[in-house]
Amino acid sequence: MGKLGWTLALLLAVLAGYIWYEPAFDPKSLRGARVVVTGCSTGIGEQMAYQYARLGARVLITARREARLKKVTAKMKDLGALEAIYVAGDMGKPEDCERTIQTAKEKFGGLDYLVLNHIGTNHKSKKAFLWDGDMDFLHDHVMINYYSYIRLASLALPLLHQTNGSLVVVGSIAGKVGYPFATFYAATKFGLDGFFISLRQELVMQDINVSVTYCVLGFIDTEPSRNFQETFEMSKDVKASPPSDCAMAIIKGGATRQREIYYPWRDAWFGTKLKPLVPGLLEHAMRSVFPPLKEKSHLFTGKKH
Ligand SMILES: *[C@@H]1O[C@H](CO)[C@@H](O)[C@H](O)[C@H]1NC(C)=O
Ligand SMILES: *[C@@H]1O[C@H](CO)[C@@H](O)[C@H](O)[C@H]1NC(C)=O
Repeated sequence: MGKLGWTLALLLAVLAGYIWYEPAFDPKSLRGARVVVTGCSTGIGEQMAYQYARLGARVLITARREARLKKVTAKMKDLGALEAIYVAGDMGKPEDCERTIQTAKEKFGGLDYLVLNHIGTNHKSKKAFLWDGDMDFLHDHVMINYYSYIRLASLALPLLHQTNGSLVVVGSIAGKVGYPFATFYAATKFGLDGFFISLRQELVMQDINVSVTYCVLGFIDTEPSRNFQETFEMSKDVKASPPSDCAMAIIKGGATRQREIYYPWRDAWFGTKLKPLVPGLLEHAMRSVFPPLKEKSHLFTGKKH
């Protein structure tokens, strides 16, 4: 090989190392760790609750449905959680956010991890999510999926500062690339990325050792994802990944203080990294899993939403 060949080989090796490098995760580091996870009645949040429990953490979970929270915390205790408590509440309400962090402070005497994961379900049963100018819907969505994340983080930061703790934000590939039928959702996920990467800068400048992890999640096998796939007739070739593996990837990412994690790795990593290089190609790929539209948005048909 000539000089150029060796240089290229070296570059490829460095790139491969960079891509596959995974920092060592010590499961024991989570024993007794004090954790708050929001949105734990089902899906990824529920699985995170069980995984933290298995690792022997002290965990406070939240969701709106108290009956579900009772079941989940009972199972967490069986799995080995040092403590499993809950706050039943709506994170769209400031007082419920305050109650959540206050309860952690009182019961645990501190906080090591805040994992922001909840998502507001769409009370409006819309068939089509083409953007139609429904500002009330957007407002509700932003309050629960964006505003509350920042409110909870702000309440928790003084506690996390004391323990050199970690903030973990469950984001999405829809927070990195344009995603049809999810304008409002993508807006909050992009917004969270922007807020939290900038917050990280300010923390560093203030010598505050709180890590911030943004999780880029692809298509995960949860109820909202299945509904989405069905409603928009998304190709069945897009396979959903298991929420329990996803939960573990998030937990490891937080514990090893990663800036970003990608799960499932292939979709999320390539989506994130290819976007700046070949945006048109990637956007085409995102659209191509949906069949052609039968109808236009109400913005263009003049119908009321
Ligand atoms: C920040 O805190 C973590 C966790 O306690 C620790 O491992 C790391 O060394 C700290 N960073 C610095 C710069 O001291
Ligand atoms: C937290 O991190 C700072 C460095 O940023 C370090 O000096 C301090 O010892 C750490 N404290 C704890 C409790 O780990």
